[in-house]
Amino acid sequence: MEKILTGIRSTGTPHLGNILGVMIPSINIANMNEKNSSFIFIADLHSMVQINNIKTVKNNTYQIAAAWLAFGLNTENCLFYRQSDVSEVTELAWYFSCFFPYQRLTLVHSFKNEVKKKISLGLFSYPILMAADILLYNASIIPVGKDQLQHIEIARRIATSFNKRINEKLFVLPNAFLQKEAMSVPGTDGEKMSKSKNNWINIFSANEILKKQIMSIRTDNKSLKEKKNPEQDYIMSLYKLVAPSEKINEMKEKYIKGGYGYLEAKISLYEMILHKFSKERKKFFSFMKKKSLLDHILYSGAKKAKNVAIERLNKIRKCLRLNSIKL
Ligand code: ADP
Ligand code: TRP
Repeated sequence: MEKILTGIRSTGTPHLGNILGVMIPSINIANMNEKNSSFIFIADLHSMVQINNIKTVKNNTYQIAAAWLAFGLNTENCLFYRQSDVSEVTELAWYFSCFFPYQRLTLVHSFKNEVKKKISLGLFSYPILMAADILLYNASIIPVGKDQLQHIEIARRIATSFNKRINEKLFVLPNAFLQKEAMSVPGTDGEKMSKSKNNWINIFSANEILKKQIMSIRTDNKSLKEKKNPEQDYIMSLYKLVAPSEKINEMKEKYIKGGYGYLEAKISLYEMILHKFSKERKKFFSFMKKKSLLDHILYSGAKKAKNVAIERLNKIRKCLRLNSIKL
């Protein structure tokens, strides 16, 4: 049975990119997968690399949890947990960091792009912890956005070299699972939508805020009258991801014909998002009022994950000639 695993950092509220690129495809697989073969977690340890205020990370955790539940993740069928509640993962990350070449890690984009700033050791070893997240459970299907491909590649390298070192197939090689049309959803500025770039569309914002986010989508300065190119426009790119095909074709025709302004297109996008996600928005707000329920759900998931993790870690410890963890 193939295991699926994915994590979202608690660095903010999940945006349209996280939702379309990772959450919905993961839920579709996880809810159909064999019981206890799907691992969905909130990567709060990874968030600490970016946000030092632990209280903020914790509050964001609820938003991520509420979003997964609002989109219908069946937590009976999968293991849904906070990364920090299964601390075995940090032990595995240490073993990996003891033999993974430092020089190879210096080539990782998430490190290279930041290297001129004052960065933490945590940011540097970020991909090692991510490899541990995946390899601890022997997950082979990893739904992610395009920006995570390099990290998955590192996890594969670690698995391969560890297996070689111990002369045993202890780790399965993970594969990225990309949702082709939504693997890099553009933000309001046309760059990849991101929680850290203030270019997101947060479908869980209050109506007025959501509208403001959509109104801020960058366009060229063609007048209302002019014909527009539907293939080179961020409003259209987002509309294509949320609207049914007949509505997309209607909007395309209006672009090509002219006499249709970007303001109108933005309003259509706003209304489509409200319509498409109305059920999920309601559920999200309702879950956000029940933090102790969220804690309970996450804690139950962590207990299940911890049992699997300890069993696996003992196997790994045995290969390393270390004592096993006794409960
Ligand atoms: P962010 O980059 O917004 O902080 P995370 O790092 O928590 O989000 O990403 C969680 C998952 O969502 C990852 O698998 C990531 O690749 C994916 N993801 C993030 N942004 C996008 C996007 N704009 N389009 C598609 N997937 C995305
Ligand atoms: N690094 C991922 C991100 O920035 C989050 C993450 C942490 C993850 N561990 C993971 C994703 C394991 C998939 C599998 O978005």
